Amino acid sequence: MDTITLNNGIEMPLEGLGVFQVTDEGECERAVRTALDLGYRLVDTAACYGNERAVGRALKASGLPREEVFLTSKVWIQDAGYERTMASFDRTLENLGTDYLDLYLIHMPYGDYHGSWRAMEELLRAGRVRAIGVCNFLPDRLADLILAHQVVPAVNQIELHPFCQQRRLRQLMARYDIAPMAWAPFAEGQHGLFSNPTLTAIGAAHNKTAAQVVLRWLRQEGIIAIPKSVHEERICENFDIDDFELTPADLAQVDAMDEGVPTILDVPDVCEVYRLHGITFEQ
Ligand SMILES: NC(=O)c1ccc[n+]([C@@H]2O[C@H](COP(=O)([O-])OP(=O)(O)OC[C@H]3O[C@@H](n4cnc5c(N)ncnc54)[C@H](OP(=O)(O)O)[C@@H]3O)[C@@H](O)[C@H]2O)c1
Repeated sequence: MDTITLNNGIEMPLEGLGVFQVTDEGECERAVRTALDLGYRLVDTAACYGNERAVGRALKASGLPREEVFLTSKVWIQDAGYERTMASFDRTLENLGTDYLDLYLIHMPYGDYHGSWRAMEELLRAGRVRAIGVCNFLPDRLADLILAHQVVPAVNQIELHPFCQQRRLRQLMARYDIAPMAWAPFAEGQHGLFSNPTLTAIGAAHNKTAAQVVLRWLRQEGIIAIPKSVHEERICENFDIDDFELTPADLAQVDAMDEGVPTILDVPDVCEVYRLHGITFEQ
């Protein structure tokens, strides 16, 4: 498995399994176990996904040594702030059945995320987490966080797929060596991604699917990807991208698909801020 070296020297696999919206614990456990058996060594969960226990059970059942699997989880908005983040972290470790986390992320740039970051810096110093980072931090919030604290995030997990390539944000991240981690690498299937003519034509030339083209494009860009699937054949397909290389012309075609706006989550949209705080916004 190809890896990336994070800005604090930690090695992280460039591909893993995401388990967002896998709310059935048995299904989650099966998917993670399938992935680990196939060779995946990175799993991305979150406190708010409600499936950390299932991930922990799958890891235990796999028989793999803990240090061979890179576990990522996240603190949700309702647990923003120093004390709540500390308590949420303890619950996450207990749920996962582990005594440390590889990567701990602030899930959203809402609420007292500065307090959360202070807690995470302390967890890092105490060796309870190997790397800390954020999700969905756009340039303004990211710069604000960096300038206010000592530790620069190692990772920013962001919506990133052919239709939304986050070029401006990635430029700022590159200055600080913050690794991009693509959530929704398939745009959750929106815009007909799996049958997109550009992606399927590129795939046909390499005997690969549109999904594999997207993952290979991310790999060649050095971007961490965490595709989600609960189907064994897709979990397998999504991992089978090491035996081909996209040409410069292929890469240029995927680059040209960028629409420059998010497909799924418009982070600064006021309705989203209310929705993610669990409140309906009356216009
Ligand atoms: N930090 C954040 O705010 C945030 C937000 C969203 C997601 N994430 C993380 O990123 C991960 C991935 O994002 P996502 O789950 O939203 O979306 P995604 O990975 O872009 O797409 C998942 C969808 O694609 C389908 N799929 C997967 N592989 C396929 C293939 N080879 N062919 C056809 N269909 C395929 C899946 O269906 P089946 O499962 O039925 O196969 C599922 O419907 C999440 O699971 C989560 O870990 C983080």
